[in-house]
Amino acid sequence: MSVLSVQSVSVSYGGVHALSDVSLEVRAGQLVGLIGPNGAGKTTFVDAVTGLVPARGRVELDGRDLTGRPPHTRARRGLARTFQSSELFDDLTVSENLLVTADRPSWWTALGETLGRRTPANPAVAEALAVLGLQDLADASAHELSQGQRKLVGVARALAARPLVICLDEPAAGLDTAESAELGRRLRAVADAGTALLLIDHDMSLVMGICDHVVVLEFGRVIASGPPARVRTDPAVIAAYLGASATTGTPETP
Ligand SMILES: Nc1ncnc2c1ncn2[C@@H]1O[C@H](COP(=O)(O)OP(=O)(O)OP(=O)(O)O)[C@@H](O)[C@H]1O
Ligand SMILES: [Mg+2]
Repeated sequence: MSVLSVQSVSVSYGGVHALSDVSLEVRAGQLVGLIGPNGAGKTTFVDAVTGLVPARGRVELDGRDLTGRPPHTRARRGLARTFQSSELFDDLTVSENLLVTADRPSWWTALGETLGRRTPANPAVAEALAVLGLQDLADASAHELSQGQRKLVGVARALAARPLVICLDEPAAGLDTAESAELGRRLRAVADAGTALLLIDHDMSLVMGICDHVVVLEFGRVIASGPPARVRTDPAVIAAYLGASATTGTPETP
């Protein structure tokens, strides 16, 4: 069964049809890629699914209808996201950044804080740090981190809420090739550990290398959907990217 099931979602901004009848499924343990040229509607899709913009269509999480629910209800039911311009709290440590969203911060967290403990007392924080390989950085200040480490902490922060699915909006933006590859290995580990992921990114080697299934948007519509090997050779996808590179100079092609 799908963890996230989105059926015929459409969004208009005034006269602009940003999304038209987009459907997408993400199953447990699956890593699904959502790609497309700039302005294709990828962020709008995540905004619609998480309830940040009004949308037509239906959104189900783990078989429960979320259509029309406000963002905080969707988050509490297990729908997490990261933002395209995700920021950390630079004055806090890595584990403190995770505690902000962590599942059920409870008496042991409060006790740990009272006793001045710096290591994470919250099991959801500890688990998220472990899956993303950040244990050694738990007590580091966020402002000391490299760009790649910051992105991993952003994913860990979403994971610490123990969601059913995380929508990741361009987590590899600004990373070099090695950092992006490391992020990819960690995202695969998150999915393999059971949290479904929807990955938006322009880094084609990242998306094609780790995703089980890829959906391609162009002008707000799905133009292709399938396993990476099939999508990357799809003539409509190649045409969409060549068209984008011809008009914007974008170098990435699938
Ligand atoms: N708040 C808004 N008001 C009006 N139009 C918007 C708004 N947000 C997005 N759009 C338009 O909707 C379309 C889809 O934008 P969106 O940001 O979802 O694309 P994207 O695929 O995420 O692009 P990118 O790869 O650049 O992040 C674009 O035409 C964009 O200009
Ligand atoms: Mg976007």
